[in-house]
Amino acid sequence: MKIDVLPVFGKQTDSQLQDTTVIVVDVLRATTSIISALNGGAVKVVPTVDAGDAVALAARLGARECVLGGERGGVKIAGFELGNSPEDYLSRAVRNKTVIISTTNGTGALYSVRSADKVLLAGMINRTAAAKAAACDGNDILIVCAGTDGQPSADDLCTAGAIIDAVRCYADLLPGDLSDMAILCETLYRNWKDGSFDMARTFHYSRLSAMGFDRDVEFCFTPDSTDTVPVYRDGVIIKLN
Ligand code: MLT
Repeated sequence: MKIDVLPVFGKQTDSQLQDTTVIVVDVLRATTSIISALNGGAVKVVPTVDAGDAVALAARLGARECVLGGERGGVKIAGFELGNSPEDYLSRAVRNKTVIISTTNGTGALYSVRSADKVLLAGMINRTAAAKAAACDGNDILIVCAGTDGQPSADDLCTAGAIIDAVRCYADLLPGDLSDMAILCETLYRNWKDGSFDMARTFHYSRLSAMGFDRDVEFCFTPDSTDTVPVYRDGVIIKLN
């Protein structure tokens, strides 16, 4: 089983998406919020790249059916009910509703891999469950990171490494199975875990902290707090398990 990591979405070739299980990671905070929405009782989540498309879909479905969430630059989109804090999505606001979400990078990352055979979503909070689901498929794995505004983001790379570390519990990885990027991500994860890499000084993490989102960051970086694995199929995200 080969494992590769794309540090930023949008650079994959069509052949990389065939016979592959793709795992999209935007640990801070889109994929963590979407996992939380499903845990909060949302029926499904519909990601849109464009905020206007989210508003149009919400108007079609009606306020009783759906709730609008998302951010730009970390800040809740004007007129939307929810921002991009995972806590928002664990609230009663999402229960039995369709969540329509649009975020700066995360929903774009999802859209970029929509033609893949299988697309799972992961963060630190479900890294082992996502790794197990992907490893049990038996296909090669491509972890696609959202990054931040077209740049790699250490938080996503570390989470990719955490997933790879967990895959080892479910699959025998042979020498040469990991790409160089996958090896670097796993090394970053191990350094973060043993305290020798300080995530707090990295760009997106420190920006969210400075904006007052310390609780979000702590929640997003708590490994294995849930077994929920979302799957993205035909434009819609539901629970795999
Ligand atoms: C994104 O999609 O860019 C992020 O989830 C940004 C954020 O932390 O809100």
